Amino acid sequence: MQFIFMGPPGAGKGTQAQILGALWKIPHISTGEILRACVVAKTALGLKAQAYMDRGELVPDQLLMDIVQERLNEPDANAGWILDGFPRTVAQATFLDKLLQELSGAEGSTPNPKFGLKAVNLDVPDEILVSRLLSRGRQDDNEETIRRRLQVYREQTEPLIDFYSGRQQLVAVDGDRAMELVTAELQQSLSIDS
Ligand code: AP5
Repeated sequence: MQFIFMGPPGAGKGTQAQILGALWKIPHISTGEILRACVVAKTALGLKAQAYMDRGELVPDQLLMDIVQERLNEPDANAGWILDGFPRTVAQATFLDKLLQELSGAEGSTPNPKFGLKAVNLDVPDEILVSRLLSRGRQDDNEETIRRRLQVYREQTEPLIDFYSGRQQLVAVDGDRAMELVTAELQQSLSIDS
């Protein structure tokens, strides 16, 4: 069970990943949450990342690759995981492919579309996203930063939809419905009964 949850800011990636990770007993790995914890702890990584996050920009790829490499090497990730918010660029997706090949010990093998990674894309109209985020009120949930996060998503992350759909690994889900309905569709589309 290796799942990537993609979608624009406010699409419900974190909400759904948390529910399904608990149901399926696999870790929900949110790179946004890891970064926010580093900011609160004022680590060197947190100090570097904060300015990017406050502006709604992506934190540099290499920092995220190091975080994900370390996290996926932890023992609880052996049975599977849900990655929420990673990859967000084609460079990160290519890195993840390599990392998964290394972790499975099968260097050079082709990803298996049936049993391998699946990437979920949650789709929600922009105006709904903005209103969800404004009512949540996280530090980066002000209108200017939200608009920038959406723009960055369109430019740098949306190309991953083609990246994964070209490999028959994409599951597209309408995220503009009640949370329970989105959860039910994800359970059905990802073929896991719980
Ligand atoms: P991150 O924390 O990943 O933020 P994001 O992608 O902007 O995602 P959000 O948490 O805003 O939205 P979500 O889709 O998870 O929705 P949620 O479930 O929370 O990243 C933050 C920053 O860190 C980035 O801007 C970047 O700077 C940096 N970063 C992180 N990863 C990176 C990477 N890989 N590379 C580079 N930089 C990186 O829901 C939002 C709200 O909507 C909640 O209030 C929720 O209750 C509500 N809601 C959810 N579903 C529904 C529904 N169906 N109906 C009604 N309301 C709903």
